[in-house]
Amino acid sequence: MGPSFNCWPTSRMFMNLKRIRKCQLVQLMTSCLLLSVVMICWEQLDLVVVSHVKSYSFRYLNSFCYVNRSLTIPREQARSFSDFPYLLDHPEKCADEDVLLLVFVKSFPENFERRNAIRFTWGNERYIQNTLGMTVKVLFALGTVERKSTEPFWSKKSDSSFRRKLVREDTLYGDLIQKNFKDSFHNLTLKLIMQFHWMHSRCAHARFFMTTDDDVFVHMPNLVRYLQELSSKGVTDFWTGRVHIGAPPIRSKDSKYYVPYEMYQWSAYPDYTAGAGYVVSGDVAHKIYHATLTLNASLYIDDVFMGICANAVNVSPQQHVYFAGEGKAPYHPCIYSQMMTSHGHVKDIYDLWRVATHPKVQQSTSGLFGKLYCTVVRMYLLCKPQFVDTYPCKAAFL
Ligand SMILES: *[C@@H]1O[C@H](CO)[C@@H](O)[C@H](O)[C@H]1NC(C)=O
Ligand SMILES: *[C@@H]1O[C@H](CO)[C@@H](O)[C@H](O)[C@H]1NC(C)=O
Ligand SMILES: *[C@@H]1O[C@H](CO)[C@@H](O)[C@H](O)[C@H]1NC(C)=O
Repeated sequence: MGPSFNCWPTSRMFMNLKRIRKCQLVQLMTSCLLLSVVMICWEQLDLVVVSHVKSYSFRYLNSFCYVNRSLTIPREQARSFSDFPYLLDHPEKCADEDVLLLVFVKSFPENFERRNAIRFTWGNERYIQNTLGMTVKVLFALGTVERKSTEPFWSKKSDSSFRRKLVREDTLYGDLIQKNFKDSFHNLTLKLIMQFHWMHSRCAHARFFMTTDDDVFVHMPNLVRYLQELSSKGVTDFWTGRVHIGAPPIRSKDSKYYVPYEMYQWSAYPDYTAGAGYVVSGDVAHKIYHATLTLNASLYIDDVFMGICANAVNVSPQQHVYFAGEGKAPYHPCIYSQMMTSHGHVKDIYDLWRVATHPKVQQSTSGLFGKLYCTVVRMYLLCKPQFVDTYPCKAAFL
């Protein structure tokens, strides 16, 4: 477009026939070039632009009632997604206590270290009770590890020693909830259903429910303060996290999130929050539980399935800028004073917990000067163009 644009307005008055031809030639060549670029990139354009245009229009036409209708199945059939027996369970975990928050951490059975890191940092129930004066229950949601039949005969032995290790861990800490389905990425929806069913039958009085991953850092003091405030206002119909609005299904087979047409035929998902961590109020948790009783849960992306359930019961998510999706928070006291969750912490979780909950954080970030200083720092940390996804720029101004 550049050359033809340049030659047009400046030389208009003096243009002779020759120049017009020259100009047209340039124009023609540019158009050809553009067209071929478009042709070459069409596949990418189609994937990214067209799918988003389609998904946004689908969303604005509010066509999700079709999704709801066609994914509704008879209760007897829906039961197949939830009736796996418990292998580890703690029915008394919440009994007779005023539970502010029930947290489920999705964890693979192998991740002993990650669970321990959480128990000794942000998921330490005793610390929360003693320093924040609130009851929070932290449980780990597990499936089972299946050995492939191609493994040698002695794998049976290692299987049972693995099992023993898990049972020992559970005896020690009493916080594993495990059902008899294979723990895999494509079974996360079964895990999600397990969490809502567990809450419904064993912790129905908890005021809030949260689900998160074992590589997520939760700033428990900030979260508890926030939820206490909401609770005192008697909030209902509440669902917050990092919101995905009108996201299109990914049809590229290379993606981890690939979903075939047979599984989900529409061009957009209902709005949902990133599975890395989100919170719902107790009433929403019960509605979601009821939705899971009549929905086809074969769509294996658990956070999207949550969106489908919420859509069926007319609940929509609201964005909280300090809940992370894929993103990792910058390390800075001005971030620690606000953060709720941050993704991708395994090795650094002990250090982060220590610095992020240090009393100095509140001291240095409060008062007029502290607030001004932190706004500037956060603008610098969050508003510069960057390739890593973290909190949005507008979070700088809270
Ligand atoms: C999900 O769990 C079920 C029950 O254990 C198992 O049969 C199935 O293969 C698992 N699916 C995936 C994708 O792992
Ligand atoms: C649920 O959806 C899957 C496709 O994702 C389909 O194969 C299956 O038959 C459906 N189940 C029921 C009970 O309709
Ligand atoms: C979704 O479908 C179920 C079952 O047909 C129905 O009870 C419910 O009202 C529907 N939800 C919405 C929001 O239309």
